[in-house]
Amino acid sequence: MRIMKPTRHLLLVLCPMLVLGFLYYSSGRLHLRGWGQKSLYDKQGFLLKLGGNLPLELMYKYGNLSEGVCKPGYAAAKMTTIYPMFAKPAPMFLDPNFRRFSKISNFSPPFGMKTQEKIIDNILTATKSYGLGDELDSQSCKKCIIMGNGGILANKSMGVKIDEYDVIARLNEAPVSGYEKDVGSKTTMRITYPEGAIQKTERYEQGSLFVLSAFKALDFKWLRSIIFKERLHSTEGFWKSVARHVPREPSEMRILNPYFIQEAAFRFIGLPHNNGQMGRGGYGLKTYLNSGMDGVAVLLIIPLSKPR
Ligand SMILES: *[C@@H]1O[C@H](CO)[C@@H](O)[C@H](O)[C@H]1NC(C)=O
Ligand SMILES: *[C@@H]1O[C@H](CO)[C@@H](O)[C@H](O)[C@H]1NC(C)=O
Repeated sequence: MRIMKPTRHLLLVLCPMLVLGFLYYSSGRLHLRGWGQKSLYDKQGFLLKLGGNLPLELMYKYGNLSEGVCKPGYAAAKMTTIYPMFAKPAPMFLDPNFRRFSKISNFSPPFGMKTQEKIIDNILTATKSYGLGDELDSQSCKKCIIMGNGGILANKSMGVKIDEYDVIARLNEAPVSGYEKDVGSKTTMRITYPEGAIQKTERYEQGSLFVLSAFKALDFKWLRSIIFKERLHSTEGFWKSVARHVPREPSEMRILNPYFIQEAAFRFIGLPHNNGQMGRGGYGLKTYLNSGMDGVAVLLIIPLSKPR
């Protein structure tokens, strides 16, 4: 008995220490493993090493991707690899079923369409078209390019290369006429908000879609006034003068799905959620969108997310 006692004491001390040690060790391991995983991605969930080899399964499927060949689903697969949070494809433009898209129904503009449902109904009844147009919609694989407004293309003679794309999206007032050699001559769509819309009607490209990216409730009112050729009661609420006429038929007008703004703001840029309201963070978003980047982050995901 007298020999057992110290042993028992020792065990009593040792056991908790072993338990603690084990916990410490395993938590350390967990921690380390967590770290190991985390270090592959940045805070927003993007793969840190964007370059490098394609993952094996993509290599297998798309390994033969030679220049100029369009492979359906490739962009979405690549996007999922570098950004696993990549959401399920969403329609690029609002259509009459927009109420069923729950992700946007609980947010006010610019992140959703709450309180704007009726006016959107109005607009969609007039536009009657919700896709890229028959020709592009029937194409099984589309190569898309978003032209930023940063001026980096000046004197680079990339126009011919850019025109090879099937879908060319331009933003706001980005000029084309006179700069074709550098920026291409084709415009599939212009994505803009009222203050960014071209004011000189002759500068709109024939055959291009006019796509509203609404930042505030007033922007929907503005589009309705353009479509129905009514005067806006007041232009109060715009931060600069806006176009009064857009030389496009209603069938050439679309509303960009606000889901992409939501996704870009909260996930890509990592703005504070702020109960889904444009708060202080909203200013950041606007600044971001008005800068040279001009919405590239927002638009990056759009063409990738409508594989057919
Ligand atoms: C790539 O394409 C060539 C020619 O079409 C074909 O012979 C080859 O097997 C393909 N390789 C892979 C990995 O698919
Ligand atoms: C492009 O080239 C023109 C004519 O050579 C020159 O005047 C202009 O400064 C150049 N622009 C840039 C951004 O390099």
